[in-house]
Amino acid sequence: MKIFATRKIPEAGLEILKGAGDLSIATEIEDAIVPRESVLAGVRMADVLVSLLTESVDRDVLAAGERLRGVANYAVGYNNIDVEAATELGLPVTNTPGVLTDTTADLTWTLLMSIARNVVPADRYMRAGKYKIWGPSLFLGGDISKGGDGTPKVLGIIGFGRIGQAMYRRARGFDMRVLAYDPPIRDLIDGMEGVSYAEMDRLLEESDFVTVHTDLNEATLHLIDAAALQKMKSTAYLINTARGPIVDERALVDALKSEVIAGAGLDVFEDEPKMAPGLAELDNVVILPHIASASRDTRNKMATMCAKNAVAHAKLEKAPNCVNPEVYDSDAYQSRLQRIR
Ligand code: GLV
Ligand code: GLV
Repeated sequence: MKIFATRKIPEAGLEILKGAGDLSIATEIEDAIVPRESVLAGVRMADVLVSLLTESVDRDVLAAGERLRGVANYAVGYNNIDVEAATELGLPVTNTPGVLTDTTADLTWTLLMSIARNVVPADRYMRAGKYKIWGPSLFLGGDISKGGDGTPKVLGIIGFGRIGQAMYRRARGFDMRVLAYDPPIRDLIDGMEGVSYAEMDRLLEESDFVTVHTDLNEATLHLIDAAALQKMKSTAYLINTARGPIVDERALVDALKSEVIAGAGLDVFEDEPKMAPGLAELDNVVILPHIASASRDTRNKMATMCAKNAVAHAKLEKAPNCVNPEVYDSDAYQSRLQRIR
């Protein structure tokens, strides 16, 4: 079995992959950018593709994999893969759901608290030796819990899946009022305590914090655009740890500059690793390099999950975390099996 990985995953996963076949990795260098030609060359020879979210697995890449049995993505998000094309070509695709839910919500909460309480600029101020005397208006921020005026703050959650619900659980510990927008599961939201369903406009208008937890697709591209930002309170904060293109980043820079909203916390960007012009110069934004799931335990767990999916692909077994399970019943899959067996 030839297993091709675009980049290295943590050791726990590599061990499993090496036990299952002949593993090759496009580059051993941790932060090297993998050229498309290397991805194509690797896929041509491979029985199983292990992909990271940094590499685009589009129709051409998938089509190059003539003997490919499946694709195992090392991430819960899989917008880097053309799943529709994969299904048409008879290829199962897997992701790593569940294991990073709390780790991602923890970092989202960290962004929420750091942006509201000016943690990053205050730290910079200390390091620059600017702290001369305590004062009542030093780094005034917004409340997260009820705070001075006794009213609960409102958390608006866009996308109420695993990570969105983990944010709701955290918000309850802070006595927040929670609004959630996720039309397909409106009934589930209506049946839960401490959260109300809200349409987008009401959620944007009433929330003190808006946090995005949808996946990226045609319907969510630029879901938060200039018009959406205009609807938010001038004291509100936007948090995005989902995927960059869900937010129109240039419109966000304008909104932050003109104080249409109070601040933002971002772990993802429209054109990673680049940032929209002007973003990095702003003080009312906390920016992180896509580290929401980056805890040692979680990254190891993602690696073993990804590797187990890869092994299932290799053995032509139904993979545990398949995002297009209908593929197994398709003619395209059957004819691929005939071809590669
Ligand atoms: C990270 O962004 C993931 O989708 O797992
Ligand atoms: C602040 O340090 C206080 O004691 O109120």
